[in-house]
Amino acid sequence: MASSAEYLNGLFGLAGQTAVVIGGGGALGLCLGTGLGKAGAKIVVADCRKAQCDEAVARLKAEGIEAIGIEVNVTDKQSLCALRDEAIAWGGKVDMLVNCAGINAGTSFLDVDADVWDKIMAVNLKGTMLSCQVFIEKMLTSGGGSILNIGSVNSDKPLSRVFAYAASKAGVVNLTANIAQEFAEKGIRCNAICPGFFPAEQNRKLLDEKRVENIMRGTPMRRYGDPNELVATAILLLSKNAGSYITGAAFYVDGGFTCSWF
Ligand SMILES: NC(=O)c1ccc[n+]([C@@H]2O[C@H](COP(=O)([O-])OP(=O)(O)OC[C@H]3O[C@@H](n4cnc5c(N)ncnc54)[C@H](O)[C@@H]3O)[C@@H](O)[C@H]2O)c1
Repeated sequence: MASSAEYLNGLFGLAGQTAVVIGGGGALGLCLGTGLGKAGAKIVVADCRKAQCDEAVARLKAEGIEAIGIEVNVTDKQSLCALRDEAIAWGGKVDMLVNCAGINAGTSFLDVDADVWDKIMAVNLKGTMLSCQVFIEKMLTSGGGSILNIGSVNSDKPLSRVFAYAASKAGVVNLTANIAQEFAEKGIRCNAICPGFFPAEQNRKLLDEKRVENIMRGTPMRRYGDPNELVATAILLLSKNAGSYITGAAFYVDGGFTCSWF
């Protein structure tokens, strides 16, 4: 009989696989990249900010994880194609893709600026679509793959002052289900994690006293999430053994926020 470590490794281990983490220089992306790397995967850290990319690669390598950094702009299909080709040249193929780039801005509805709206949609929604398109094209001929997109509790439930962000994240969950259906028979799975509140660069600026109070009231666990609390779900959804029959799912990791009455 296999030891429990061997059994768990058979279910969740990612050795011999390559993961591209876009937005991998950010708070959640770095944590997810580290988790996937510790589970055995080689990691391509992709981000539009070179310094963050380099820093993330250094941190992964310090953990003993094989990693490279590649600059990318998710709003630009050519840039994504270049990332994909470089990632394949390095890793042999791309088994897992994590779309973790994202931006946000907060205003009252009447102050929503159309250019800011377009920018948020371009990174969060169009960027996720383009990235899926570019990587799926190759996954179709390399034995399949698994994609993890990042939604939000706001994909489903209204918050205040983040109208473009909310619409983009609802779109990400919708896109995830449509891609899952389209490619299920071709060996490609596509799921989303919808995180609750994990203070990071893109959302910390929105956290005034009133908002924090509302978040804590609305989160039954009455605390923020720690990015490490997303890792096990990411591994489950990306793993070709443990996650083999899961596709099109939007998995909420939110301390109960979306099940809460308030
Ligand atoms: N932190 C949270 O509480 C939370 C909650 C729900 C969802 N999310 C989502 O999780 C994802 C990661 O967020 P985070 O909190 O780690 O934020 P973050 O700002 O730390 O990371 C986002 C990363 O995306 C990169 N990025 C931005 N625009 C890009 C572009 N055009 N091309 C390539 N990379 C780009 C940034 O450089 C940054 O490193 C985002 O999609 C965010 O919306 C975060």
